[in-house]
Amino acid sequence: MAARTCLAIVLTAGEGTRMRSVRPKVLHAVAGRSLLAHVLDAVADSGVTATAVVVSPNDTAVAAEAKRASPDTECFIQKERRGTAHAVLAARPAIERHPDDILIVYGDTPLIRPAPLLRLRKAIAEGAAVGVLGFRATDPAGYGRLILEGDELIAIREEADADASERAAALCNGGIMAMAGQSALAILGRIGDRNRKHEFYLTDAIEIAHGMKLRAAAVEVEEDDMRGINTKKQLAEAEAVAQQRLRQAALEAGVTLVAPETVYLCADTKIGRDVVIEPYVVFGEKVTVEDGAIVHSFSHIAGAHVGKGASVGPFARLRPGTQLGDGARIGNFVEVKEAVVEAGAKANHLSYIGDAFVGANANVGAGTITCNYDGAVKHRTEIGKDAFIGSNSALVAPVQIGDGAYIGSGSVITQNVPADALALGRSRQTVKEGWAARLRGLKTLGKKKVHSRD
Ligand code: UD1
Ligand code: CA
Repeated sequence: MAARTCLAIVLTAGEGTRMRSVRPKVLHAVAGRSLLAHVLDAVADSGVTATAVVVSPNDTAVAAEAKRASPDTECFIQKERRGTAHAVLAARPAIERHPDDILIVYGDTPLIRPAPLLRLRKAIAEGAAVGVLGFRATDPAGYGRLILEGDELIAIREEADADASERAAALCNGGIMAMAGQSALAILGRIGDRNRKHEFYLTDAIEIAHGMKLRAAAVEVEEDDMRGINTKKQLAEAEAVAQQRLRQAALEAGVTLVAPETVYLCADTKIGRDVVIEPYVVFGEKVTVEDGAIVHSFSHIAGAHVGKGASVGPFARLRPGTQLGDGARIGNFVEVKEAVVEAGAKANHLSYIGDAFVGANANVGAGTITCNYDGAVKHRTEIGKDAFIGSNSALVAPVQIGDGAYIGSGSVITQNVPADALALGRSRQTVKEGWAARLRGLKTLGKKKVHSRD
C-alpha cells in the first residue's frame, strides 16, 4: 500500500495575551529553541508530506522562524482572529490538494513528540474521520474536556462553555487533532461561532462529525506531551520537562552528569561519550562536546565546539565561534569568542581571547587579553604554535605572534613578533635604593606635625 499523504497545519495566529509579552507566543523558547520549531520538528518526524503554518497578518517574525525551522513550509495568513477552526481554514488551498490525512497542531504545544502524532494518524488510517489526543491533566484549568459515551468520543466542550459534570470529565483536550482529508472541509465548513467568545472552535468538529455519523476517536497520551503554553508559568513548567528529557537522553548516551538537575541543555546540544559535566553548567545553542572532554562547574557555553579530551572551566565562558582542539585547556575566568584554540593549547586563568587563532600547544599566560576592539572595528590576533605569552600581556590586534615566540610578562604588544623571537613590551624596571624607607620616615614626621597642632 502506498504511504498516506499527510498535511500538517500548525496554528500560531492567536493573541497570546496571557504571556504578557511583546514577543509572539510561539517565538518564546524552550530548551533554547522556539516553541514553533519544536512543533515543526515533531511534525517533520511523523511522516508528513506537506506543512502549513497559519500566522497572523503582522507576524513576519513567526513566518521567518517557520521557514528557518522547516524550509518547505508554506505560510498562510489568518486575516482576522476568529478562532481555531477559522485559523485552520486559512490553509484551505493546502487542504484542497486532498491529502489523505490532516494533522492540526497548535504552535504552543512544544513537548509533543512524533509517537503520539503517529498514533493519531493510525486512528484516521483505521477509519475515523477525526481523532484527538487527550490526557489527564494535573491542573485541568483552561483545557477543553473530551465528552465520551462509553468508548466513543462525542464532543469536546470548552471550559467556559462546560457545565460542572462536563468539567469533571477526566480527559482534557490536548488540542492536537487529525482529520481524514476527504471529509475535513465538509466538517470544518459546518463549524459556527455560537459560543461565549463568538469564535469558530475547531473542537466543535467532533460533535459535527458525530452528527454526520462519522467516527471520532480519542487517543490518550501522557500529560507532558500535551502541555499547552498560555502563560509564563506554563513556559517554565515545559522547560523543566524538556530539560528532564534532555538530561535523560544525555545520560543514556553515556555522558556523565554529576548533578543532572543543575545542568541546562539546549535541544541541539551534542555531547560525546565519557564526557564529564560537573554541576551547574549551562549550554546555549549549537554546542558540540567531543568524547572524553570535561566541563567543570559554573561554565557557560554557546556556539562552541569542544574537542576530544579538552578541559573547560570552572567558571569559563565559551561564546559563539569558539573551537577548542583536542586536549585544549580553558581554565577559570577565561572568556573565548570567535577563536580557534588548537590542540593542546592552554589559557588557564583570567583571560579574554576574542577574534583569535591560538596555535597548537601555545601557552597563554594568566591575565592575557586580546585587545580586539578599537572602539569601531574588531581585529584579529594570531598566536603561532608553541608560542608562550607571559602573564598579563595585552595583545593589541591586529597582531601576529610567530610560532614558538616568547612574550615577556606584562607586555603590551602592538607589532608582529617573528617566530622564535623574544618580545618585551614593557618599560624597563628602575630601582631606587632606600626610597621606600625614606618615604615612611616622611610620613611619620608629617603625622607628628598634625598631632602637635591639636
Ligand atoms: C485550545 C483548545 C482547548 C484545548 C487547548 C489545549 C480550542 C477552541 N480550544 O484552547 O480545547 O484544551 O487548546 O492546549 O481550540 N489560534 C489561531 N487563530 C485563532 C485562535 C487561535 O491561530 O483565531 C492558535 C493560537 O496561536 C494557538 C492555538 O491556535 O497556537 C490555540 O489557541 P489558544 O488560544 O491557545 O487556545 P486555548 O485556549 O489554549
Ligand atoms: Ca493554548
